[in-house]
Amino acid sequence: MNLAEFIEGKREEHLAELCEFLRIPSISAKSEHKADIERAARWVAERLRVAGFKTVEIVPTNLHPLVYAESLEAPGKPTVLFYGHYDVQPAEPLELWTSAPFDPQTRNGSIYGRGTADDKGQVHIHLKALEALHQVHEKFPVNIKVLIEGEEEVGSVSLWDFVQKNKEKLKADALIVSDTAMLSRGVPSITYGLRGLNYYQIELTGPARDLHSGVYGGAVPNPLTVLTELFAKLHDKNFRVTVPGFYEDVATVTSKERKELNALPWKKKEFEVAVGAPGYFGEKGFTTVERLWIRPTLELNGIWGGYQGEGAKTVIPSKAYAKFSTRLVPNQNPKKIAKLVEQHVRKLLPRSVHCKFEVLSMGKPWVAAYHGGIFHVAQAALQKGFGKKAVFIREGGSIPFVTQMYDTFKVPCVLIGFGLPDENAHAPDEHLALENYYGGIKAIAHLYEDLASL
Ligand code: BES
Ligand code: MN
Ligand code: MN
Repeated sequence: MNLAEFIEGKREEHLAELCEFLRIPSISAKSEHKADIERAARWVAERLRVAGFKTVEIVPTNLHPLVYAESLEAPGKPTVLFYGHYDVQPAEPLELWTSAPFDPQTRNGSIYGRGTADDKGQVHIHLKALEALHQVHEKFPVNIKVLIEGEEEVGSVSLWDFVQKNKEKLKADALIVSDTAMLSRGVPSITYGLRGLNYYQIELTGPARDLHSGVYGGAVPNPLTVLTELFAKLHDKNFRVTVPGFYEDVATVTSKERKELNALPWKKKEFEVAVGAPGYFGEKGFTTVERLWIRPTLELNGIWGGYQGEGAKTVIPSKAYAKFSTRLVPNQNPKKIAKLVEQHVRKLLPRSVHCKFEVLSMGKPWVAAYHGGIFHVAQAALQKGFGKKAVFIREGGSIPFVTQMYDTFKVPCVLIGFGLPDENAHAPDEHLALENYYGGIKAIAHLYEDLASL
C-alpha cells in the first residue's frame, strides 16, 4: 500500500488517539499537575515505542521529564532530530471555553482543546507520520532522534543543561520542529526566524502592611500607583521602549528582506479579525509584520495587588506585583537586556517603595538562512501534503530549544508549523484545523521519506 493511502485510511484512528493525548492536563506551570505531566511523558514514550523506536527513555530533570527516542538504523542516510513539547499552558479563564479545555471536541472542521495547536496536535502529526512510515516500509527511511520536552511553556529551564551534557546524543544533520503557525489558511509556511524572550517579575513593597486608605491615604506611598506610573514610562509616544540601550544591538534587517516579508500573502484584515481590538498601534516607522517579527518589544503580562473581591474595600495595599517580558531580536543579548531593564526600572522607581526584581527566564532570538537542500525537500513535502508552495516567514513567538540547538551545532533548523494565527494558542477555545492536522501527517511523512535522498 502506498504511504498516502495508508495515512488516509487511518484518519479516525489518528484523531481518536490525539484526543487521548489532549485529555491529559499536562500544565507545566502548575505543580498540582505534576502527576499529569508525568503521565503525558509516559504516554509520549509509549507512542514512540509503538511507532517503531526501540530506544526510548524518559529523562528526569530538576523540573519536568524529557522524552528522548532514537532509531539509527539507516546507515549512510542523514540523521534528523525532531523536537516538540508535550506540556501546555494553563487553561484559565475556564468560563470562556465553549467546551472544556481537556475534553476535546470537533466543531466546524477543527479539534478544540488546550494543546491542540500548541503543541500536542503538532507533535502527534510527527508521531503518526513516523509510525506510518515504519509500518509501510518496515523501517525508518532516515536516522531519527526525537526530543519531546515538558517545560517549553515555562521557558525550557532544564533544557540548556541537558543539551550541553548530551551533545553527542543530540547531534544531527538537521533539526525539525512543528511548533509554529502557518501564515494563513491554505498557505504552508516554513519559519526561519523567532524572537527571544526574557520574562520578569517585580514585587513593590510600600507600607509594612495594608493600611486604611482613609486614615493614611494622602500621606503614604501606594505601591499600586507607583507600579502603574512605572509602566506608563516604559514606552514613549512613538511606542519605543525607553530602556536606555535597548535597541543598541538590534541588527538592521536589509531592505531586500523587509520587502520580501512585506510582500508575503499576509492579510491585515485577517490579523485584525483575529485580534478583535477597536484600534491598533505599534512602533513608529515599521509595518505590522515588521513590528511582529523583526522588532523587539516590552509587554506587561499581568499586574495585581490590593483588593479585587466583591464590593469596596478601602485599603492601601502593602504590595504591588507585575509580570512583564521583553521579546528580543538579533543581535540583542538576553543577559545584557535583563541588566538594562532592571537598571532602568530601579532608576524610575521612587525611594518610597522597595523593589524585588526577578528574571524568571531568558532566551535568545534566532534567525537563519533558509537555502540548501533540506529546505527544498521541506517545500516539496508541503507541496505533496497541501498542494501549495510553502512560503518562508519569520515569527514573533519564541522556542528556546531552537536557538540552543542552532547555537550549539549550527545545523539547519526547519520549522514547519501547522497551527493558524487565529487558533487561540494560550487562550480559551484553542483549536487546530483538521485539514492541517491530516495534511500535516501526509506532508511530514513525505518529508522524512524524501530526506533519505538528501
Ligand atoms: N509554540 C510557541 C511558540 C510560537 C508560537 C512560535 C507561534 C511561533 C509562532 C511556544 O509554545 C511558546 O508559546 N513559547 C513561549 C516562550 C516560552 C519561553 C514561554 C512564547 O513564545 O511566549
Ligand atoms: Mn509551542
Ligand atoms: Mn506555547
